[in-house]
Amino acid sequence: DWNSDNVIAEQIERIRAQVGDARVISALSGGVDSAVSTALVHKAIGDQLTAVFVDHGLLRKGEREQVERDYVASTGVRLITVDAADTFLGHLAGVTDPETKRKIIGREFIRAFEKVQRDLVDEAKASGEKVKFLVQGTLYPDVVESGGGAGTANIKSHHNVGGLPDDLDFALIEPLRTLFKDEVREIGRELGIPEAIVGRQPFPGPGLGIRIIGEVTRERLDVLREADAIAREELSAAGMDQAIWQCPVVLLADVRSVGVQGDGRTYGHPIVLRPVSSEDAMTADWTRLPYDVLAKISNRITNEVSEVNRVVLDVTSKPPATIEWE
Ligand code: XMP
Repeated sequence: DWNSDNVIAEQIERIRAQVGDARVISALSGGVDSAVSTALVHKAIGDQLTAVFVDHGLLRKGEREQVERDYVASTGVRLITVDAADTFLGHLAGVTDPETKRKIIGREFIRAFEKVQRDLVDEAKASGEKVKFLVQGTLYPDVVESGGGAGTANIKSHHNVGGLPDDLDFALIEPLRTLFKDEVREIGRELGIPEAIVGRQPFPGPGLGIRIIGEVTRERLDVLREADAIAREELSAAGMDQAIWQCPVVLLADVRSVGVQGDGRTYGHPIVLRPVSSEDAMTADWTRLPYDVLAKISNRITNEVSEVNRVVLDVTSKPPATIEWE
């Protein structure tokens, strides 16, 4: 019967047999699947593996540090971070259409990753090594959903910003292909990955880019990042993490609302809280959070984030509304 130690031991053997002495590249997204698959491969082959993390500037507060510091400390994975915020934000300038944003972010992600990949391949070749393998955090439900046979990389782009083009000359290592999310989390814990990463709620690959309704700018990202951090902090402090599937925090950047602060009138922006309960994100209901938790979040956001003077709650189920606003 199922046992995380057995799965780990079996996968390690399998990975070693598949890889031999070749070099391997892995894209870390900050999410559970790529974190666990990367750690598993690292356990099997050590520094033959290089992990790549693309900072696209659309990350949440603390996310990069979580990967660079906590993940690396707990796994020993050799990591390259790509500073790509300027590039991403440059390409997103003036863009408001949600699908166009997704396309740009997906495309730039691949470009950034391919660049590192080329560098690593060159470096390996120069020292006579081979880079042949790419790690993917494909889970069993992804395999079923995409109807994919072994080794195909056709993960739905919507669900994985790391969904890489299939014309890459790499063989895939997919150590989580037979597993469900709960099992992946258990393996992650067994491998010593911090709970903040293993227990993370779903977060979209395009990140905060699709939670700013309107154009994505650095200033708007800073506003949303602060509001999002406060909401997450208070939800965790109130013990709500298990009760909600995820809670998008959305900045209505093109809407202005009138407020009053001290003696003055303000003309700021509303923030939307979108806490949802769900089994699989296909359908969802809005989570009936305790009023005092909502009040605390609202007070803190309006007190601490000066550009925001109003917090509203989204009380729509899916369908008809999607979980994300874009
Ligand atoms: P919707 O908004 O379609 O979201 O109800 C369903 C689930 O998918 C996530 N989501 C995304 N994940 N790239 C991703 O990796 C995306 O472009 C994307 N759009 C939505 C969303 O957070 C929810 O969990």
